[in-house]
Amino acid sequence: MARHLITSAIPYINGIKHLGNLVGSQLPADLFARYLRARRHEVLFLCATDEHGTPAELAAAKAGKPVAEYCAEMHDTQAEIARGFRLSFDHFGRSSSPQNHRLTQHFAGVLADKGLIREVTEKQVYSKADGRFLPDRYIEGTCPNCGFDSARGDQCDNCTKQLDPADLINPRSTISGSTDLEIRETKHLYLCQSQMKDKLSAWIDSKTDWPVLTTSIAKKWLNDGDGLQDRGITRDLDWGIPVKRGDADWPGMEGKVFYVWFDAPIEYIACAQEWVDAGKADDWERWWRTDKGADDVTYTQFMGKDNVPFHTLSFPATILGSEEPWKLVDYIKSFNYLNYDGGQFSTSRGRGVFMDQALEILPADYWRWWLLSHAPETSDAEFTWENFQTSVNKDLADVLGNFASRVTKFCRSKFGEVVPEGGTPGALEERLVADVTAKIREYEGHMQAIEVRKAASALRAAWVLGNEYLQEAAPWSTFKEDPEHAAAQIRLALNLIRLYAVISSPFIPDASAQLLAAMHDEDAGWPGDIDTALQALPAGHAFTVPDVTFRKITDAEREDWQARFAGTRS
Ligand code: MF3
Ligand code: ZN
Repeated sequence: MARHLITSAIPYINGIKHLGNLVGSQLPADLFARYLRARRHEVLFLCATDEHGTPAELAAAKAGKPVAEYCAEMHDTQAEIARGFRLSFDHFGRSSSPQNHRLTQHFAGVLADKGLIREVTEKQVYSKADGRFLPDRYIEGTCPNCGFDSARGDQCDNCTKQLDPADLINPRSTISGSTDLEIRETKHLYLCQSQMKDKLSAWIDSKTDWPVLTTSIAKKWLNDGDGLQDRGITRDLDWGIPVKRGDADWPGMEGKVFYVWFDAPIEYIACAQEWVDAGKADDWERWWRTDKGADDVTYTQFMGKDNVPFHTLSFPATILGSEEPWKLVDYIKSFNYLNYDGGQFSTSRGRGVFMDQALEILPADYWRWWLLSHAPETSDAEFTWENFQTSVNKDLADVLGNFASRVTKFCRSKFGEVVPEGGTPGALEERLVADVTAKIREYEGHMQAIEVRKAASALRAAWVLGNEYLQEAAPWSTFKEDPEHAAAQIRLALNLIRLYAVISSPFIPDASAQLLAAMHDEDAGWPGDIDTALQALPAGHAFTVPDVTFRKITDAEREDWQARFAGTRS
């Protein structure tokens, strides 16, 4: 029994996420959390909404709502959808919480005390009409390189040249369209990450068991000339965590807020405080403070590859720089991208399937199974409707669902809705038990190592063994000559249904619960010895034939959905 802290990268508040976002962090984190809980470990699984920054402000403006109100509503929406996908967070927090305000200001104060924060005066574009400084990407103008007339202040989308807002010809605000812009001086805080390069390098080098995707990105940033430059951690915005030094005001920093990427990872800690303050537990420090017992905790983070630099360098710089006994991450599992049907998912163009839409057309388990069994681990992956249809129809309907249905219906017709008695297992049964044992042990190894695709393959292979057994044993024929032996075969097959339900629960929790309920065994524990587990339902134990566990996707549905999600969502 160990203690596991698990966090998923916290999704931005502005808008509903697509399936590519889901499979890159929240869903695999949930898989791991469910697995470890099933193995009776103590798990704290946290996620939250990432609520600060300009995108949140602008999304609220677009929705015609005060930003605090917009965030509160979107948080509830995202929480509801997360429940729909059965994401089993112990708490789904908010980076705008009072707890995160306090903790972020605390970290800034401590880092300043350690000499790791310096003040820098910069020149920035100010829009008089908007009454605010404009972030680079909210300034547009003509590209000095190619003449494109909608180049952004940070980059030209036409010729890809990196730009500085001052380079733009005829710059204008994208918020108001105003051209009444001027350069003003403004003061900001910088975190002196460059001072911590050696410490961070040594720490990354010690992580020899991390996925290559994680360490290669971290090392690239550490070793590229400008990878670990000092980084601005404040912004001239209204919405965010006010810049303070602990509880104290920070002279010269009035009206400024912390940069969203400074406060967002701190929410991982604040979220545990929110969890306690919500009355769900009474101690968060044993998860986060190494001087309060968190030394025993194994901490695993899940995220998409674009998030890796912030989790391998920036956030550890905050933690290590504080020199306080905070728990550092032990393992970072990162993911490549999921593409959509020959292109990319696009939030702005509404291309691809978004989380709310997915649940409108099919239950969570169908999506969970496809996404996890095709997780973009070693390279980018692609969602196609053909592939989705094939996986669902084969793996879920033909293999798992059909097994449960055939076995229970056959039993009902010949022996009634109870586990039949009589007969003894023979060589075929012995071989099945050995094969299933090997597959399950392999599956456990992959789950422990968070090899998501490999785990899905091993699980699928364990289901296939049941079907092959049924084909070979053919209890419907056996029954005609030797009903006692058929009883032994069906007893084993019914027990396999129960076993499948238990081991499949991290992937497909609803189907698993349905099958366990059908087998009248709702609190089945993780199997130790498989031979023993396959005798858990004794002769005479009642069951109920389950309703259809997984239905097939028709060609007409596939075509309809393909057209519907090609990109027009407003
Ligand atoms: N909101 C970011 C994203 O979706 C992730 C933030 S993760 C955290 O890419 F560490 F900052 F919390
Ligand atoms: Zn250009």
